[in-house]
Amino acid sequence: MSNYHIKHLEEYFQVYRKSITEPENFWEEIAEEHFLWHKRWDSVLEWDFKKPEVKWFRGAELNVAENCLDRHLQTKADKNAIIFEPNNPDEETEYITYRQLHDRVCRFANVLKEEGIEKGDRVCIYMPMIPDLAVALLACARIGAVHSVVFAGFSATALATRINDAECKMLITADGSYRGEKTIDLKGIADEALEKTPCVESVLVAKRINSNIKMKEGRDKWLQPLLEKSHTYCSMEIVKAEDPLFILYTSGSTGKPKGMVHTSAGYLVYTAFTFKNIFQYNEEDIYWCTADIGWITGHSYIVYGPLANGATSVMYEGIPTHPHYGRFWEIVEKHKVNQFYTAPTVIRALAKQDLEHVENHDLSSLKVLGTVGEPINEDAWHWYNDNIGKKRSPIVDTWWQTETGGIMISPIPFTTPTKPTYATLPLPGIQPVLLDDEGAEINNNQVNGNLCIKFPWPSIARTIWGDHERFRQTYFDRFKDHYFTGDGAFRDEVGYYRITGRVDDVVIVSGHNLGTAPIEDAINEHPSVVESAIVGFPHEIKGSALYGFVILKNVGEWRVHENVRKEINQIITEHIGPIAKLDKIQFTSGLPKTRSGKIMRRILRKVAAKDLDDMGDTSTLLNPEVVDEIIENAIK
Ligand code: WTA
Repeated sequence: MSNYHIKHLEEYFQVYRKSITEPENFWEEIAEEHFLWHKRWDSVLEWDFKKPEVKWFRGAELNVAENCLDRHLQTKADKNAIIFEPNNPDEETEYITYRQLHDRVCRFANVLKEEGIEKGDRVCIYMPMIPDLAVALLACARIGAVHSVVFAGFSATALATRINDAECKMLITADGSYRGEKTIDLKGIADEALEKTPCVESVLVAKRINSNIKMKEGRDKWLQPLLEKSHTYCSMEIVKAEDPLFILYTSGSTGKPKGMVHTSAGYLVYTAFTFKNIFQYNEEDIYWCTADIGWITGHSYIVYGPLANGATSVMYEGIPTHPHYGRFWEIVEKHKVNQFYTAPTVIRALAKQDLEHVENHDLSSLKVLGTVGEPINEDAWHWYNDNIGKKRSPIVDTWWQTETGGIMISPIPFTTPTKPTYATLPLPGIQPVLLDDEGAEINNNQVNGNLCIKFPWPSIARTIWGDHERFRQTYFDRFKDHYFTGDGAFRDEVGYYRITGRVDDVVIVSGHNLGTAPIEDAINEHPSVVESAIVGFPHEIKGSALYGFVILKNVGEWRVHENVRKEINQIITEHIGPIAKLDKIQFTSGLPKTRSGKIMRRILRKVAAKDLDDMGDTSTLLNPEVVDEIIENAIK
C-alpha cells in the first residue's frame, strides 16, 4: 500500500524516511497504484549526475493525457475538470466536465494529426489563458507531440527565438487576448515572429477577441471550425517513460533562454503526488492556481497535477486588479475555492489596497493558501495569513523551479507547522543539502549554504533542448555529483529551509555572508516602503557593500529622503545587524521586472557598479522604461 496521501507529521517523517532509504520501492509503489501503464518498467531508476543522466521507469509505456482524462471517465465523467473564469466578469463562466474535456482534447488531437503533427514533433503554443490552451497541451500529450508553451506576454523576438530553438513545426495562437481593460494583438505579434521562423509549417488560430486579423493563405487556419468538424474519438499514442512531454524555456545567466526538457512518466508521477499532498486535495474540493500556463507553475499545478488527480481546477483569464482590486476574492467566493495558490508579488500588490476589497467577500471556503516564485517577505506572509486565510488556512510556501518540474520544499498543510518566510521541509524523495563554496556538505543547523539536491527525483528536467553540455555546466558542474539550484538557503535549528534568494544575490560584506532577501524583508517593514531590491557593489575596504533600490509609497515623501534613509538603516540594524546597513539608497518609481514578476537584478548590479556600457538583453522586461530612470538617478 503506497503512502500517496500524507495526513499527519509522524506519517510525513515515516514516508520521508522510506523515500530516501528505499527511493525505488517508494516511487514504484506510487507509480503502480495510482497511474495507468501500457507496459511496466524494466527499472525504476538509473542515474549518473556526472553525465548527467536520469531515467525513471525505463521501459515503461503510457500516455499522459490518458492518465489525466480517460481514466477518470468511469468514476467522474460529470465532475468539472476545469472551471474557466473569463477576464470580463459579465461573460459567463464555463464549466468543463471530464467527459467534455476528454472530447475536446480528442477533437484537438485529431486536428493536430490532420495538420501533419506526429509523435515527437514540437508544437509551439502562444495563447491567452483560455480553455483551448489547456486543451492544446493535452492534445499534444495525447499524440506524443512535444509542446513548447511561450508565455503570451513575450515579444515577437522572444517568441521567434524559442520557436526556432525547438524547431517547432506548428504554432497555436489566438486572434488576441484580453488583459484587464486592454486587448493584446497576439496574432500580430505572432505574425512578426513568423517572419523569422522558417520551421513553422502551419498556424492554428483560436478566436477569442473577434478582432480583424490577417490570415496567411495556406499557413493560417481558424481553430474552431476544424475542431467542430473533427471526431471526439482519437486513438492515443503510447509513449515511452522517458519520451519528452514538453519543453519550457527559462532565462539563464546568458541571454539565450534554456529550453528545459521534461519527460513523461516521472513528471506525471511527481506532479500528481505533490499536488495531492501540498494542497491536501479532497474529492469535492475546488482548487485555484492563479499562475499562467505559460510558466511551469501553470503546467504542473493547473493542468497536469490537478487533472492527474481528477481535481477541479479553476482557470482565470484575467488580472488581479480588473475590474477592481477584489476580483480574486470575488472569484474565490463565487466558486467556493478551497485551495488558492498565487505569487508573493500579487499578494504585495493587493495588500497595498484598501482592506474593504477583501472584506466584501466571503472567503470561508478557503482551506489552504499557497505561494510560489520568490521568497515571501514577512509582511506579505502575515497579510495573507491574517486577511485571506483568517489565520485558519495554513500557508504553503512552495519552493521549486522550472528545472525541478514540481514542488521540492514546502510545508504539508495541517501536518508541517508553518513558519513565516520558511519553505520548511523537503517533500518525500527530495534530498536537499547545503554545500559551502568549496563544495563540502554542511551538516549542522542554523547555517547558510548553496542549496543543492543530491539524489534524483522523478520530475527533474533531463536536459536543455539541443544543448546537453550547457545543461551539465549550468546544473552539475559547480558542485560535483549534485544538482545545483542556483539558490541559497538557510537551515534553522529544526532543519527548516528558508530560501534566501539566488546565490548570485548573496553579497559578502566584510567577510560576512548576507542574503539580500532578508534585508529587503526588513526594509519592507518601513511604513513608507512599497518594495526594495538590494545588490552588492565593489567596495574598497569591505570587498562588497550594499546598494538598495527602494520604492516609496508616495512621491510626496521623497522630500524627506534623508530621514527615510536613516530609518531604513535603523530597521536593518535592528533586524539583522549594523553589518547589513546599506551604503547607498536610491529611491525609484519602479524596479526592472521580468514578466513573471522577478526583479532583474543583473541590471541593478550594473547600475550599482557604474558599469553602464552594456545593459545586456532587456527584451524580457515588463517595464524597460524604468531602467533609464534608474541610471539617471544612480547614486555616485
Ligand atoms: C525562486 C518557479 C523563495 C527561486 C516555480 C527559484 C522561490 C526560482 C520560491 C525558480 C519560494 C521559487 N521561495 N524563492 N517559495 N519559489 N523561488 O523557474 O529563486 O520561475 O530558483 O520556477 O524562483 O523560478 P521558476
